[in-house]
Amino acid sequence: MPPGKRYEFLPSRRLMSPEKIERLVKAFVTLGVKKVRLTGGEPLLRPDLEEVVERLARLEGLNDLALTTNGVNLENRLESLKKAGLKRITFSLHSLRPERNAVIVNRPVDPLRLVETMEEAKKMGFTVKVNAVVVRGLNDDEVEELAAFFKRKKITLRFIEFMDVGTVNRWSLEKVVTAKEIITRLRRVFNFKPLPRKPSDTALNFVYDDGTSFGVVASVSMPFCRGCDRARVSADGKLYTCLFAERGTPLNGSLTETVERVWRERTDRYSELRLLNGLNRSQKVEMYRVGG
Ligand SMILES: C[S@@+](CC[C@H](N)C(=O)[O-])C[C@H]1O[C@@H](n2cnc3c(N)ncnc32)[C@H](O)[C@@H]1O
Repeated sequence: MPPGKRYEFLPSRRLMSPEKIERLVKAFVTLGVKKVRLTGGEPLLRPDLEEVVERLARLEGLNDLALTTNGVNLENRLESLKKAGLKRITFSLHSLRPERNAVIVNRPVDPLRLVETMEEAKKMGFTVKVNAVVVRGLNDDEVEELAAFFKRKKITLRFIEFMDVGTVNRWSLEKVVTAKEIITRLRRVFNFKPLPRKPSDTALNFVYDDGTSFGVVASVSMPFCRGCDRARVSADGKLYTCLFAERGTPLNGSLTETVERVWRERTDRYSELRLLNGLNRSQKVEMYRVGG
């Protein structure tokens, strides 16, 4: 939730229960989904996140369950999340300078404390990754520093091009630092090779000499709509077929039928159209509803 606005929070009775989330994920798994990411919003705000994880971690056919989080107070829940069956955590950290990080996260987070939590998580056996959104004029001067920092820590860092998600993040094309620019700048400092790419990969992935990898998500400059296989479900149980969708479909009744129908009928390719026509819809679902 970018700063500077008043936000309306959903009353908790409108949030899906852990039991409903499990039923829903079961329906997705029946239709072939193998990977689920719990994101947000901020998933750690749910006191029952451990129960959600526990229910999903035991589902047969679901091979990969991950959490994306700003990591606030996560140190107190690593143990319980581990016990519940979570194996992968992606942290969002955009700058090593607290005041800059706070502009994107809209929370006072101490970056070095967050890094300690990452290291703790790694020690406990979690696979840890970091997402850093690069915004020109905010943190673009830190690209090399962030890369060097996480390379030293042997943690995979993913740079993300700043996207025009939702309607409240004051996006403009001038603020986007393209993957090409990021990679060119990193080439001046580090030796690395590209890794093979699957059509559904969101990131261009690379590996440094020492075996540590990093990635760049080029969602603005090189959209990957045609390979995108991500469905998104908001906390109140609506299905969105694109991060830039204007509306979602309530998931009631026969879950498998609804999901299958909506998925078959989808035509979204917002990021490609943005690139082709400079499209910027005024009514888009907010990212804090459908996650990153
Ligand atoms: C929307 S957040 C939700 C999960 C959690 N609250 C967090 O901070 O990680 C998921 C990811 O989207 C990224 N993100 C947020 N705004 C973005 C933007 N405008 N463009 C690209 N990525 C963005 C965040 O950095 C984060 O890694």
